[in-house]
Amino acid sequence: MTRKILVTSALPYANGSIHLGHLVEYIQTDIWVRFLKMQGHTVHYVCADDTHGTPIMLRAEKEGITPEALIERVHGEHSADFRDFLVQFDNYYSTNSEENRELAGAIYLALRDGGKIATRTIEQYYDPVKNMFLPDRFIKGECPKCHAKDQYGDSCEVCGATYSPTELINPYSAVSGAAPVRKETEHYFFKLSDCATFLQQWTRDGHLQEEAANKMGEWFASGLSDWDISRDAPYFGFEIPGAPGKYFYVWLDAPVGYMASFKNLCTRLGLDFDEYWKQGSGAELYHFIGKDILYFHALFWPAMLENSGHRTPTSIFAHGFLTVNGEKMSKSRGTFITARSYLEQVRNPEYLRYYYAAKLNGTMEDIDLNLEDFVARVNSDLVGKYINIASRTAGFISKRFDGKLLAVKHPLIDELKSAAPVIADSYEKRDYSRALREIMRLADLVNADVAAAAPWVTAKQEGEEAAAKLQLDCSGAMEMFRLLTIYLKPVLPKLAAQIEAFLNVPELTWASVEHSFVSGHRINAYEHLITRIDPKQVEAMVEANKESLQPSPQAHSEQRHAGHQQNEAKAEAAAAEKDWEAFISIDDFTKVDLRIARIVDANHVEGAEKLLQLTLDIGEDKPRNVFAGIKSAYDPESLKGRLTVMVANLAPRKMKFGLSEGMVLAASDERGGPFILSPDSGAQPGMRVK
Ligand code: 2FM
Ligand code: ZN
Repeated sequence: MTRKILVTSALPYANGSIHLGHLVEYIQTDIWVRFLKMQGHTVHYVCADDTHGTPIMLRAEKEGITPEALIERVHGEHSADFRDFLVQFDNYYSTNSEENRELAGAIYLALRDGGKIATRTIEQYYDPVKNMFLPDRFIKGECPKCHAKDQYGDSCEVCGATYSPTELINPYSAVSGAAPVRKETEHYFFKLSDCATFLQQWTRDGHLQEEAANKMGEWFASGLSDWDISRDAPYFGFEIPGAPGKYFYVWLDAPVGYMASFKNLCTRLGLDFDEYWKQGSGAELYHFIGKDILYFHALFWPAMLENSGHRTPTSIFAHGFLTVNGEKMSKSRGTFITARSYLEQVRNPEYLRYYYAAKLNGTMEDIDLNLEDFVARVNSDLVGKYINIASRTAGFISKRFDGKLLAVKHPLIDELKSAAPVIADSYEKRDYSRALREIMRLADLVNADVAAAAPWVTAKQEGEEAAAKLQLDCSGAMEMFRLLTIYLKPVLPKLAAQIEAFLNVPELTWASVEHSFVSGHRINAYEHLITRIDPKQVEAMVEANKESLQPSPQAHSEQRHAGHQQNEAKAEAAAAEKDWEAFISIDDFTKVDLRIARIVDANHVEGAEKLLQLTLDIGEDKPRNVFAGIKSAYDPESLKGRLTVMVANLAPRKMKFGLSEGMVLAASDERGGPFILSPDSGAQPGMRVK
């Protein structure tokens, strides 16, 4: 049965850049949506920028532009970030839209007419210079508990106390610096306390994760207070119908933005809005959010919907926070990483998608991006295990069999196919880490099978029988690679599309698991699909995000904390390295620039146990300086004038003794060495070795 499903991710504020913390949620949601779409369901994934409120208004003012200009610019930036991380919304809209104004107004009027709105006069801090009421965050002063200076109006960052802004000592406005005055104003409230019975029931009806439902229990126990939904002018937002000079608080119209974005999509695609939003709707509605905004989504939002004639969400899926290297993201450590800087330095968004997926399990636990583990994991799983299958076998099919596959029956193919329900169930339950563990377990089996069949050995054998075996073994590997690609496609959509082109198959869906290659199916020539991450790219990313080079007080404990993970990561990387060394493509080999070199000078290096300093002529204007670990076997004098082979395009390496501009090739193992290589006579310095 195909389901009708509407999915949202939380709306990012329109005054800041998307960072890796945000991306946990968008990647999590996107994977889920892509999976359900692959299953053939009708799924709409909508989102928007959250554009209203005081911080956005003040930010625009600071930049000397209108709020409209600010939110338009940020909408462009956010859209580009999401596109480049392959987060594929069906609509990415704005809460500052006509649809949202109408829907928010209509919901409010329904609540008012149903007796759920009350007005009350409250006293609030007012900036007499800016002529505006100040939100708590824009009042600063001395902490009433520990007397730390310059603390925010709601909580102290030094001692952690929470209080109301009226308790601050010597308060001042963070906007103008003026001393705020207390002033009365009439506010509008949503009577949440009236909805307690409904909410107690709703939060226990299976719409929330268990941890979230428990949290709700705590909130009910401490009592629900009415919710202040109005703000006074000046405010960037929607004026409340029938209440001139009063505006909806940003959090009132933000979730309505989900509806508004969908409404806009309905207009574009001719969909029926009510089918998804009317009470009694048979469609499913899911909101992905961070655990910090549970209160808004599990209490205010269902209460607003229920009391305005709308359906309530099927489920709210909350995730935890992101830590980087085991700590809160930090600007001084360079771990507050923007989406854009990741794209500039690491480039491939699918690496991060894969890593996050490997960590996400559908609970509210925090997830950690350990940067060293990230490199090791991606290189090991994606390059060393998954892509390795194709890179070791596809070439034979192209070169020897004109790209043609044979239909293959093989118990391992059956095993891969029968894993589909477990993997699907894991995706559906948002336990991506379980899905990927299963997929990588299968990839390991496939690699072992390819290693046992050793097509590179068969390829060297003569005769028809060997040729038939080679074609069959490689065709089987291709079939298994196709199945793994289906399973990984929600996480790696771009790579999957490249592989569809290479395998010459139509768009892979979940139903493609049931199909198989027929004999004679022709695949295209294998082209390099993915490169390993170089840890240097990650280092460059962290550098680019460092706001100050001051060492942080936590730096020491951070290193200790990361310690054992690093060892694990290193072991994994070493294992991956071994996998990969087994077989490289000709393309990889030709990237290494090997040259004949004449050793024009050779010397001992003071203080170095193993190194000799060589001056090498490879036909360039300037000779190369290379440090080689050959001191144990050679007297420098004996080397002068000799020809050897060097790697000429290694990135220069700064060593204790100076810059090393390449590497000399030498053989060694437990039987002896090093033995440097020499060409036959006639070779000239600078000749390319191929
Ligand atoms: O916390 C935030 O970043 C909010 N902008 C999320 C809004 S989600 C929805 F309710 F609009
Ligand atoms: Zn304090």
